[in-house]
Amino acid sequence: MKDHWIWTTEQIWSVWVITDRGDTVGTAAYKEMTECVEQPENFHTPVMLTEVLDLLQPERGDVCVDGTVGLGGHSEAILGRIQPGGFLIGIDRDKESLDKADERLKSYHGGFRLFHDNYKNLPAVLNSLSVESLDSILLDLGVNSWQLLSTERGFSFQSDAMLDMRIDRTQSRTAADIVNEMPEKQLADLIYKYGEEKFSRRIAAAIVNEREISPITRCSQLAGIIKRVIPIRGKLRIHPATKTFQALRIALNAELEGLEEFLFDVAGFLKPGGRLVVIAFHSLEDRNVKRAFRRLAGQCVCDSPPELCLCDRRVSVKILTSRPMTPGREELSVTPRARSARLRAAVKI
Ligand SMILES: C[S@@+](CC[C@H](N)C(=O)[O-])C[C@H]1O[C@@H](n2cnc3c(N)ncnc32)[C@H](O)[C@@H]1O
Repeated sequence: MKDHWIWTTEQIWSVWVITDRGDTVGTAAYKEMTECVEQPENFHTPVMLTEVLDLLQPERGDVCVDGTVGLGGHSEAILGRIQPGGFLIGIDRDKESLDKADERLKSYHGGFRLFHDNYKNLPAVLNSLSVESLDSILLDLGVNSWQLLSTERGFSFQSDAMLDMRIDRTQSRTAADIVNEMPEKQLADLIYKYGEEKFSRRIAAAIVNEREISPITRCSQLAGIIKRVIPIRGKLRIHPATKTFQALRIALNAELEGLEEFLFDVAGFLKPGGRLVVIAFHSLEDRNVKRAFRRLAGQCVCDSPPELCLCDRRVSVKILTSRPMTPGREELSVTPRARSARLRAAVKI
């Protein structure tokens, strides 16, 4: 096990092992990564599948959207419930993942259409299909395991990976462009805002020092710079570069931009009784989902005292998850990367 390991916020390991490079990874992650490297195409197990199906309640003949198809795991299970007669509209920003999903779903030929697009363009996609209303919408946010573990995609700390991190590879800007071009203060603010990293200023200063000597082009190079400047006391639950990598990924792919508004608007496409399920993988993302759901349920989301509240209190959904659901022990023992998943669901009134 030399070149294949990652640390992301989606993978917070409590038990660590030393690899033959002298680095540390969690034991569960180590096992999972070894399997993935051997069989990457078959790796992706959909997160919280039982909960997703229980809450979406897909039925024969339904028209459903999977806004983040990824490798097609959830889509496959939904198609299994809605076929024959149903139709699945799948969207993903990553063409390569979409191609893998297409292959996985081919036995449902004619029962689905996949779109290489941003889920935020769902209204236009529905318009192009003349679909006016939906039975359910699923969003399983973030990146998929193949993207995380692929040696070319640069989401990981792999020693030979270019610092890329683009979900949509038709986009030209990469994480390396941010790291090498952004002014120091802006970079520190970005790492603080999207990574909630308290050492953001120190990390940004170290990055700027390093890039003055030579450009930072590799994931391991960046991880090494961060590791050198973050004080390590006691037992670490995550790799020191985790939060910075998260911040770069979120910023580069504009992952949080418009998420709350999109969720708020998209409920308008659901039929009465239609269901919306969203899985988030970090607190910033989940905060957006929570606010959108509360607004849809007619609850106050402003900080004003009740008598000054200006929130639109129209109720269009009933929230089905008073608290976000998390994966069960059994799932975590098999799929430790599901650990940060937070699922929220609502039904249209
Ligand atoms: C966690 S994975 C989904 C995995 C999928 N549910 C499965 O079972 O294989 C998230 C996916 O969302 C995609 N994605 C991220 N942001 C997106 C966006 N704004 N629009 C569409 N797809 C997006 C990523 O490319 C990735 O494939």
